[in-house]
Amino acid sequence: MNYSFHKIFSSTFIFCISSASLLSQGINFTEHIAPIIHQNCTPCHRTGEAAPFSLITYEDVVKRGKFIQKVTQSRYMPPWRADHDFGDFKDVRKLTVGQISTIKLWVENGMPKGPDVALKLPDFQTNSQLKFKPDLVLKMNKPFLIPKNNKEEYFLFSLPTNLQSDTYVKAIEFRAGNKKLVHHSRISIDTTQKMRVTDAKSIDDESIAEFGKIRMKDEFWAGWVPGNNPIIYPDGIAKPLQAGSDLLINIHYAPNVLPNETDSSSVNLYFAKEKVEQELRTLILFEKDITNQPFEIPADTVITFYAKSVEIPYPISILSVQPHMHLLGKSLRSYAITPGGDLIPLIKISAWDFDWQMTYQYKEAQAIPTGSYIFAEVTYDNTGRNPRNSFSPPQKITAGWNSTQEMFNLIFQYVIPK
Ligand code: HEC
Repeated sequence: MNYSFHKIFSSTFIFCISSASLLSQGINFTEHIAPIIHQNCTPCHRTGEAAPFSLITYEDVVKRGKFIQKVTQSRYMPPWRADHDFGDFKDVRKLTVGQISTIKLWVENGMPKGPDVALKLPDFQTNSQLKFKPDLVLKMNKPFLIPKNNKEEYFLFSLPTNLQSDTYVKAIEFRAGNKKLVHHSRISIDTTQKMRVTDAKSIDDESIAEFGKIRMKDEFWAGWVPGNNPIIYPDGIAKPLQAGSDLLINIHYAPNVLPNETDSSSVNLYFAKEKVEQELRTLILFEKDITNQPFEIPADTVITFYAKSVEIPYPISILSVQPHMHLLGKSLRSYAITPGGDLIPLIKISAWDFDWQMTYQYKEAQAIPTGSYIFAEVTYDNTGRNPRNSFSPPQKITAGWNSTQEMFNLIFQYVIPK
């Protein structure tokens, strides 16, 4: 019995080894590796995009071969922080087990180049993550010199659209200029044009204090955080943008200690070409929706907060979700419960990553019936075991916009189905 088991085992083992080495001998860059890299890595790993180096040519990839093997096996790259078994998303960034093994075998076999033919790259747009040309590119009036005072700073920038007629926007892409210091940004719509005087001024500037009282047409038209990606709304769905509007951008800069650090952030707008039937709306679950108040995180604790929305008053279809926490974030989960008791999974992130705060778009819009509630459970780690804790020893943390304070936001974009 034992003997035959051993025999089967060893012959399978030999078969595995020989087939693996046969396989890996055939794996080369041109035919097998380049397509994986170009599809899954090059969208960010090219000039002008977020990643710190290019992954395009054989030389680019060979130079970091071992590192690429490591980050793909650990699934650190391509970045996607939502759990795959809770919510069904579009444009998922994920290598298959087969692709990961192919990379591994290729690296272990000395990274052969294969046929020396010209590589065929997928279509990329310069200065955009999306595959289309933006209809309108709005830039800051001039490069902004970031104050060198080692303080978190919030500055306003007014970008006139000069649009002659009302329009609808299908996608909004904020392009951080200074990738090191732009910490996040929020875009509001100013239909009054009064905010132009606030351009390049700090939100604490006395001279513009009275402008803080002016209500924007849309306070949270778009938001950007590190690692965020633009999404394209489905056909017939868009966000309105009124003629003559200005974009008012509030940019949060991380503390800067260097002279001559400038920022030239910009915004790409993509207009709807088809007839728009539904306007996109925003539902935000935030600190005030937490049921176990107060939203305070004592030192040396791991603590979970529970949030609950108001009762959903009419049927809605949720298109996307964007969670937001700061450095103490550890994990989160959100779902809706229908009046019939069904659970609709919305998102789960088991290992929160401050650097990768993406907008997750559902493959199919999530239909939430009248009378449902949306719930969230969010956990923060304010112990010394959290390597991203800003304080040593840990301190009590309260709500606030600075990255050393904490936040809880779940931003849902939805439409009211007809
Ligand atoms: C959505 C954009 C994006 C995609 C897609 C992407 N990367 Fe990256 N990558 C980044 C950014 C930004 C960084 C630097 C910040 C970081 O390390 O998180 C990075 C860092 C890296 C690093 C260095 C990690 C370190 O610890 O310094 C490697 C290696 C890497 N990427 C490989 C890959 C490979 C291989 C793929 C495809 C399988 C890929 N990346 C896909 C954006 C991306």
